[in-house]
Amino acid sequence: MRVLVTGGAGYIGSVVVEQLIRDGHQVVVCDNLVKGHRASAPPAAEFVQLDLLDTNSLKALLNETRIEAVIHMAADSLVGESVQQPARYYRNNVVGGLSLLDAMLATNVLRLVFSSTAAVYGEPAKQPVEEDDPTAPTNPYGQTKLTFENALKWYDLAYGLRYASLRYFNAAGATERCGEWHDPETHVIPIVLQVAAGKRREVEVYGDDYPTRDGTCLRDYIHVIDLAYAHIMALGLLNERSAIFNLCCGGDGYTVNEVIAIAREVTGKQIPARYGPRRPGDPAVLVASSERIKRDLGWSPQYQDLRKIIGSALNWLQAHPDGYED
Ligand SMILES: NC(=O)c1ccc[n+]([C@@H]2O[C@H](COP(=O)([O-])OP(=O)(O)OC[C@H]3O[C@@H](n4cnc5c(N)ncnc54)[C@H](O)[C@@H]3O)[C@@H](O)[C@H]2O)c1
Repeated sequence: MRVLVTGGAGYIGSVVVEQLIRDGHQVVVCDNLVKGHRASAPPAAEFVQLDLLDTNSLKALLNETRIEAVIHMAADSLVGESVQQPARYYRNNVVGGLSLLDAMLATNVLRLVFSSTAAVYGEPAKQPVEEDDPTAPTNPYGQTKLTFENALKWYDLAYGLRYASLRYFNAAGATERCGEWHDPETHVIPIVLQVAAGKRREVEVYGDDYPTRDGTCLRDYIHVIDLAYAHIMALGLLNERSAIFNLCCGGDGYTVNEVIAIAREVTGKQIPARYGPRRPGDPAVLVASSERIKRDLGWSPQYQDLRKIIGSALNWLQAHPDGYED
Protein backbone atom coordinates (compact mmCIF):
# COMPACT_ATOMS: atom_id res chain seq x y z
CA MET A 1 0.00 0.00 0.00
CA ARG A 2 1.01 3.65 -0.36
CA VAL A 3 0.79 4.95 3.20
CA LEU A 4 1.22 8.45 4.64
CA VAL A 5 2.54 8.48 8.21
CA THR A 6 1.97 11.79 9.97
CA GLY A 7 4.43 12.29 12.82
CA GLY A 8 6.62 9.64 11.17
CA ALA A 9 9.80 11.33 12.45
CA GLY A 10 8.68 10.88 16.06
CA TYR A 11 9.52 8.07 18.47
CA ILE A 12 6.75 5.61 17.62
CA GLY A 13 6.17 6.93 14.08
CA SER A 14 9.75 6.18 13.04
CA VAL A 15 9.34 2.54 14.08
CA VAL A 16 5.99 2.30 12.26
CA VAL A 17 7.70 3.64 9.12
CA GLU A 18 10.57 1.19 9.51
CA GLN A 19 8.20 -1.78 9.82
CA LEU A 20 5.96 -0.60 6.94
CA ILE A 21 9.00 -0.47 4.66
CA ARG A 22 10.15 -3.87 5.87
CA ASP A 23 6.70 -5.24 4.94
CA GLY A 24 7.02 -3.83 1.41
CA HIS A 25 4.76 -0.76 1.65
CA GLN A 26 5.55 2.58 0.02
CA VAL A 27 5.79 5.21 2.72
CA VAL A 28 5.56 8.98 2.79
CA VAL A 29 6.43 10.66 6.09
CA CYS A 30 4.98 14.04 6.95
CA ASP A 31 6.30 15.77 10.07
CA ASN A 32 6.84 19.40 11.06
CA LEU A 33 9.94 18.33 13.07
CA VAL A 34 8.82 20.37 16.10
CA LYS A 35 9.43 17.27 18.23
CA GLY A 36 10.68 14.70 15.72
CA HIS A 37 14.05 14.00 14.13
CA ARG A 38 14.68 14.06 10.39
CA ALA A 39 17.39 11.43 10.82
CA SER A 40 14.93 8.93 12.29
CA ALA A 41 13.08 8.53 8.97
CA PRO A 42 14.58 5.65 6.98
CA PRO A 43 16.05 6.68 3.59
CA ALA A 44 13.56 4.40 1.79
CA ALA A 45 10.68 6.62 2.94
CA GLU A 46 9.85 9.89 1.21
CA PHE A 47 10.13 12.68 3.79
CA VAL A 48 8.12 15.91 3.61
CA GLN A 49 8.41 18.62 6.25
CA LEU A 50 4.85 19.80 6.63
CA ASP A 51 2.49 20.94 9.35
CA LEU A 52 -0.90 19.31 9.71
CA LEU A 53 -2.54 22.72 9.76
CA ASP A 54 -1.47 23.32 6.14
CA THR A 55 -4.50 21.66 4.54
CA ASN A 56 -3.68 22.70 0.96
CA SER A 57 -0.17 21.27 1.06
CA LEU A 58 -1.55 18.07 2.60
CA LYS A 59 -4.09 17.80 -0.24
CA ALA A 60 -1.35 18.28 -2.83
CA LEU A 61 0.82 15.67 -1.11
CA LEU A 62 -1.98 13.09 -0.94
CA ASN A 63 -2.75 13.69 -4.63
CA GLU A 64 0.82 13.63 -5.89
CA THR A 65 1.83 10.54 -3.95
CA ARG A 66 -1.50 8.71 -4.61
CA ILE A 67 -1.74 7.75 -0.95
CA GLU A 68 -4.21 4.95 -0.15
CA ALA A 69 -4.24 5.14 3.65
CA VAL A 70 -2.99 7.35 6.47
CA ILE A 71 -1.47 6.40 9.82
CA HIS A 72 -1.96 9.49 11.96
CA MET A 73 0.61 9.80 14.75
CA ALA A 74 1.40 13.53 14.69
CA ALA A 75 0.30 15.12 17.93
CA ASP A 76 1.42 16.86 21.05
CA SER A 77 1.34 14.23 23.78
CA LEU A 78 2.66 15.49 27.12
CA VAL A 79 0.04 15.42 29.86
CA GLY A 80 1.60 18.17 32.01
CA GLU A 81 2.19 20.47 29.03
CA SER A 82 -1.43 19.95 27.95
CA VAL A 83 -2.70 21.13 31.33
CA GLN A 84 -0.59 24.29 31.05
CA GLN A 85 -1.24 24.93 27.35
CA PRO A 86 -4.65 23.53 26.41
CA ALA A 87 -4.91 25.92 23.44
CA ARG A 88 -1.82 24.36 21.88
CA TYR A 89 -3.32 20.87 22.33
CA TYR A 90 -6.70 21.78 20.87
CA ARG A 91 -5.04 23.50 17.92
CA ASN A 92 -2.61 20.71 17.13
CA ASN A 93 -4.53 17.57 18.07
CA VAL A 94 -8.05 18.67 17.12
CA VAL A 95 -7.72 21.47 14.51
CA GLY A 96 -4.64 19.82 12.99
CA GLY A 97 -6.44 16.46 12.91
CA LEU A 98 -9.50 17.98 11.23
CA SER A 99 -7.25 19.66 8.67
CA LEU A 100 -5.87 16.22 7.81
CA LEU A 101 -9.41 14.82 7.48
CA ASP A 102 -10.37 17.73 5.17
CA ALA A 103 -7.41 16.93 2.95
CA MET A 104 -8.28 13.22 2.98
CA LEU A 105 -11.92 13.80 2.04
CA ALA A 106 -10.92 16.22 -0.73
CA THR A 107 -8.63 13.59 -2.25
CA ASN A 108 -10.87 10.59 -1.55
CA VAL A 109 -8.44 8.90 0.84
CA LEU A 110 -10.87 7.15 3.16
CA ARG A 111 -8.71 4.94 5.41
CA LEU A 112 -7.11 6.13 8.63
CA VAL A 113 -5.34 4.44 11.54
CA PHE A 114 -5.28 6.82 14.49
CA SER A 115 -2.76 6.66 17.31
CA SER A 116 -5.05 7.51 20.20
CA THR A 117 -4.28 7.00 23.86
CA ALA A 118 -5.62 5.17 26.89
CA ALA A 119 -5.70 8.63 28.52
CA VAL A 120 -9.20 8.88 26.98
CA TYR A 121 -10.42 6.69 29.87
CA GLY A 122 -9.24 9.06 32.61
CA GLU A 123 -9.31 7.20 35.93
CA PRO A 124 -10.90 3.90 34.93
CA ALA A 125 -13.57 2.53 37.27
CA LYS A 126 -12.28 -1.01 36.71
CA GLN A 127 -9.08 -2.77 35.61
CA PRO A 128 -8.21 -3.88 33.05
CA VAL A 129 -10.08 -1.19 31.12
CA GLU A 130 -12.07 -2.32 28.05
CA GLU A 131 -12.99 -0.39 24.91
CA ASP A 132 -16.66 0.08 25.85
CA ASP A 133 -15.88 1.38 29.34
CA PRO A 134 -16.73 5.04 29.99
CA THR A 135 -14.33 7.68 28.67
CA ALA A 136 -13.67 10.62 31.00
CA PRO A 137 -10.26 12.20 30.30
CA THR A 138 -8.65 14.06 33.19
CA ASN A 139 -6.39 16.30 31.08
CA PRO A 140 -6.52 18.21 27.75
CA TYR A 141 -4.22 15.68 26.07
CA GLY A 142 -6.70 12.81 26.61
CA GLN A 143 -9.64 15.09 25.88
CA THR A 144 -8.26 16.29 22.53
CA LYS A 145 -7.58 12.69 21.46
CA LEU A 146 -11.14 11.72 22.41
CA THR A 147 -12.58 14.74 20.58
CA PHE A 148 -10.78 13.63 17.42
CA GLU A 149 -11.98 10.04 17.90
CA ASN A 150 -15.55 11.35 18.17
CA ALA A 151 -15.14 13.27 14.92
CA LEU A 152 -13.98 10.04 13.26
CA LYS A 153 -17.19 8.29 14.29
CA TRP A 154 -19.32 10.91 12.52
CA TYR A 155 -17.02 11.15 9.48
CA ASP A 156 -17.38 7.39 9.06
CA LEU A 157 -21.17 7.65 9.14
CA ALA A 158 -21.41 10.66 6.82
CA TYR A 159 -18.47 10.18 4.44
CA GLY A 160 -17.55 6.49 4.72
CA LEU A 161 -14.14 7.31 6.19
CA ARG A 162 -13.01 4.02 7.79
CA TYR A 163 -10.82 4.32 10.84
CA ALA A 164 -9.11 2.23 13.48
CA SER A 165 -8.36 4.02 16.70
CA LEU A 166 -5.65 2.46 18.88
CA ARG A 167 -5.64 3.28 22.59
CA TYR A 168 -2.52 2.46 24.56
CA PHE A 169 -0.46 3.62 27.56
CA ASN A 170 3.35 3.71 27.70
CA ALA A 171 5.33 2.97 24.59
CA ALA A 172 8.82 1.72 25.38
CA GLY A 173 11.86 0.03 23.85
CA ALA A 174 13.68 0.57 20.59
CA THR A 175 14.75 -1.07 17.35
CA GLU A 176 18.35 -1.04 16.23
CA ARG A 177 17.78 2.18 14.21
CA CYS A 178 15.04 3.98 16.09
CA GLY A 179 14.74 4.88 19.76
CA GLU A 180 13.21 7.37 22.13
CA TRP A 181 14.84 10.82 22.21
CA HIS A 182 12.61 13.54 23.59
CA ASP A 183 13.55 16.92 25.06
CA PRO A 184 12.30 17.27 27.72
CA GLU A 185 12.07 13.55 28.51
CA THR A 186 9.11 12.68 30.72
CA HIS A 187 8.87 8.90 30.26
CA VAL A 188 10.16 6.72 33.07
CA ILE A 189 12.22 4.17 31.09
CA PRO A 190 14.43 6.67 29.22
CA ILE A 191 14.74 8.63 32.48
CA VAL A 192 16.01 5.64 34.48
CA LEU A 193 18.43 4.86 31.65
CA GLN A 194 19.67 8.46 31.69
CA VAL A 195 20.34 8.06 35.42
CA ALA A 196 22.16 4.78 34.74
CA ALA A 197 24.28 6.58 32.11
CA GLY A 198 25.18 9.34 34.59
CA LYS A 199 23.21 11.97 32.64
CA ARG A 200 20.81 12.59 35.55
CA ARG A 201 21.42 12.29 39.26
CA GLU A 202 18.33 10.33 40.29
CA VAL A 203 14.85 9.20 39.33
CA GLU A 204 12.05 11.09 40.98
CA VAL A 205 9.20 8.76 41.98
CA TYR A 206 5.86 10.48 42.42
CA GLY A 207 4.22 8.82 45.42
CA ASP A 208 4.85 5.53 47.22
CA ASP A 209 1.58 5.32 49.12
CA TYR A 210 -0.69 4.05 46.34
CA PRO A 211 -2.78 0.90 46.87
CA THR A 212 -0.44 -1.24 44.72
CA ARG A 213 1.96 -4.11 45.60
CA ASP A 214 4.76 -1.72 46.60
CA GLY A 215 2.98 1.63 46.88
CA THR A 216 4.20 3.04 43.53
CA CYS A 217 2.00 3.50 40.45
CA LEU A 218 1.44 0.46 38.26
CA ARG A 219 1.44 0.81 34.46
CA ASP A 220 1.54 -1.15 31.23
CA TYR A 221 4.65 -0.84 29.06
CA ILE A 222 4.40 -1.89 25.44
CA HIS A 223 7.26 -2.37 22.99
CA VAL A 224 7.26 0.04 20.01
CA ILE A 225 7.66 -2.90 17.64
CA ASP A 226 4.43 -4.45 18.96
CA LEU A 227 2.74 -1.07 18.59
CA ALA A 228 4.02 -0.71 15.04
CA TYR A 229 2.61 -4.10 14.06
CA ALA A 230 -0.76 -3.26 15.59
CA HIS A 231 -0.94 -0.07 13.48
CA ILE A 232 -0.05 -2.02 10.33
CA MET A 233 -2.48 -4.88 11.07
CA ALA A 234 -5.23 -2.33 11.69
CA LEU A 235 -4.75 -1.01 8.12
CA GLY A 236 -5.99 -4.37 6.87
CA LEU A 237 -9.33 -4.03 8.62
CA LEU A 238 -10.26 -0.74 6.98
CA ASN A 239 -11.65 -2.28 3.79
CA GLU A 240 -14.40 -3.76 5.94
CA ARG A 241 -15.17 -1.49 8.89
CA SER A 242 -14.03 0.91 11.58
CA ALA A 243 -12.96 -0.14 15.07
CA ILE A 244 -11.52 0.96 18.37
CA PHE A 245 -8.87 -1.25 19.98
CA ASN A 246 -6.93 -1.15 23.23
CA LEU A 247 -3.31 -2.25 23.08
CA CYS A 248 -1.70 -3.63 26.18
CA CYS A 249 1.38 -5.70 26.78
CA GLY A 250 -0.55 -8.21 28.86
CA GLY A 251 0.11 -9.49 32.37
CA ASP A 252 -0.65 -7.13 35.19
CA GLY A 253 1.83 -4.36 34.44
CA TYR A 254 4.84 -3.13 36.40
CA THR A 255 5.13 -0.69 39.29
CA VAL A 256 7.60 2.20 39.06
CA ASN A 257 9.76 0.45 41.69
CA GLU A 258 9.75 -2.72 39.57
CA VAL A 259 10.78 -0.71 36.48
CA ILE A 260 13.69 0.76 38.42
CA ALA A 261 14.70 -2.65 39.84
CA ILE A 262 14.67 -4.25 36.37
CA ALA A 263 16.65 -1.32 34.94
CA ARG A 264 19.24 -1.83 37.72
CA GLU A 265 19.45 -5.51 36.76
CA VAL A 266 19.72 -4.81 33.01
CA THR A 267 22.27 -1.99 33.31
CA GLY A 268 24.21 -3.22 36.33
CA LYS A 269 24.05 0.36 37.69
CA GLN A 270 22.72 1.65 40.97
CA ILE A 271 20.07 4.15 39.69
CA PRO A 272 19.27 6.19 42.82
CA ALA A 273 15.59 7.04 43.35
CA ARG A 274 14.04 9.87 45.35
CA TYR A 275 10.47 9.54 46.57
CA GLY A 276 8.32 12.67 46.38
CA PRO A 277 4.61 13.43 46.72
CA ARG A 278 1.95 12.06 44.38
CA ARG A 279 1.33 13.97 41.13
CA PRO A 280 -2.25 15.22 40.78
CA GLY A 281 -4.28 13.11 38.37
CA ASP A 282 -2.03 10.00 38.42
CA PRO A 283 -4.28 6.94 38.91
CA ALA A 284 -2.79 4.07 41.00
CA VAL A 285 -3.20 1.43 38.30
CA LEU A 286 -3.54 1.70 34.51
CA VAL A 287 -3.76 -1.47 32.49
CA ALA A 288 -6.01 -2.28 29.56
CA SER A 289 -7.47 -5.43 28.08
CA SER A 290 -6.30 -6.23 24.53
CA GLU A 291 -8.75 -9.11 24.08
CA ARG A 292 -10.65 -7.34 21.27
CA ILE A 293 -7.66 -6.80 18.97
CA LYS A 294 -6.41 -10.31 19.75
CA ARG A 295 -9.77 -11.75 18.74
CA ASP A 296 -10.46 -9.51 15.72
CA LEU A 297 -6.99 -9.11 14.19
CA GLY A 298 -4.93 -11.87 15.79
CA TRP A 299 -2.51 -9.27 17.22
CA SER A 300 -0.61 -10.19 20.33
CA PRO A 301 2.51 -8.61 21.83
CA GLN A 302 5.80 -10.38 21.13
CA TYR A 303 7.71 -8.52 23.86
CA GLN A 304 6.09 -9.15 27.22
CA ASP A 305 9.23 -9.28 29.32
CA LEU A 306 10.16 -5.81 30.56
CA ARG A 307 13.82 -6.90 30.72
CA LYS A 308 13.83 -7.28 26.93
CA ILE A 309 12.01 -3.98 26.42
CA ILE A 310 14.43 -2.07 28.66
CA GLY A 311 17.36 -3.99 27.16
CA SER A 312 16.41 -2.81 23.66
CA ALA A 313 16.13 0.81 24.84
CA LEU A 314 19.54 0.50 26.54
CA ASN A 315 21.15 -0.91 23.39
CA TRP A 316 19.83 2.00 21.35
CA LEU A 317 21.00 4.60 23.87
CA GLN A 318 24.44 3.03 24.04
CA ALA A 319 24.69 3.14 20.25
CA HIS A 320 23.30 6.74 20.13
CA PRO A 321 24.56 8.43 23.32
CA ASP A 322 23.77 11.89 21.87
CA GLY A 323 20.49 10.87 20.22
CA TYR A 324 19.83 11.52 16.54
CA GLU A 325 22.28 13.44 14.40
CA ASP A 326 19.95 16.40 13.75
N1 LIG B 1 4.74 7.63 23.67
C1 LIG B 1 3.71 7.04 24.27
O1 LIG B 1 3.89 6.37 25.30
C2 LIG B 1 2.31 7.14 23.69
C3 LIG B 1 1.25 6.49 24.35
C4 LIG B 1 -0.04 6.56 23.80
C5 LIG B 1 -0.26 7.25 22.61
N2 LIG B 1 0.77 7.89 21.98
C6 LIG B 1 0.50 8.62 20.74
O2 LIG B 1 1.38 8.16 19.73
C7 LIG B 1 1.74 9.22 18.85
C8 LIG B 1 3.25 9.30 18.74
O3 LIG B 1 3.81 9.49 20.04
P1 LIG B 1 5.39 9.67 20.23
O4 LIG B 1 5.71 9.29 21.61
O5 LIG B 1 6.08 9.00 19.09
O6 LIG B 1 5.50 11.25 20.12
P2 LIG B 1 6.62 12.13 19.39
O7 LIG B 1 6.47 13.51 19.93
O8 LIG B 1 7.94 11.48 19.47
O9 LIG B 1 6.14 12.12 17.87
C9 LIG B 1 5.14 12.96 17.36
C10 LIG B 1 5.62 13.52 16.04
O10 LIG B 1 4.60 14.34 15.47
C11 LIG B 1 5.19 15.51 14.95
N3 LIG B 1 4.15 16.53 14.94
C12 LIG B 1 3.48 17.04 16.02
N4 LIG B 1 2.59 17.96 15.60
C13 LIG B 1 2.67 18.02 14.25
C14 LIG B 1 2.00 18.77 13.25
N5 LIG B 1 1.08 19.69 13.55
N6 LIG B 1 2.33 18.57 11.95
C15 LIG B 1 3.28 17.66 11.62
N7 LIG B 1 3.95 16.92 12.52
C16 LIG B 1 3.65 17.10 13.82
C17 LIG B 1 6.35 15.81 15.89
O11 LIG B 1 7.34 16.63 15.31
C18 LIG B 1 6.86 14.41 16.21
O12 LIG B 1 7.84 13.98 15.28
C19 LIG B 1 1.09 10.49 19.41
O13 LIG B 1 -0.08 10.74 18.67
C20 LIG B 1 0.78 10.11 20.86
O14 LIG B 1 -0.35 10.81 21.32
C21 LIG B 1 2.05 7.85 22.51
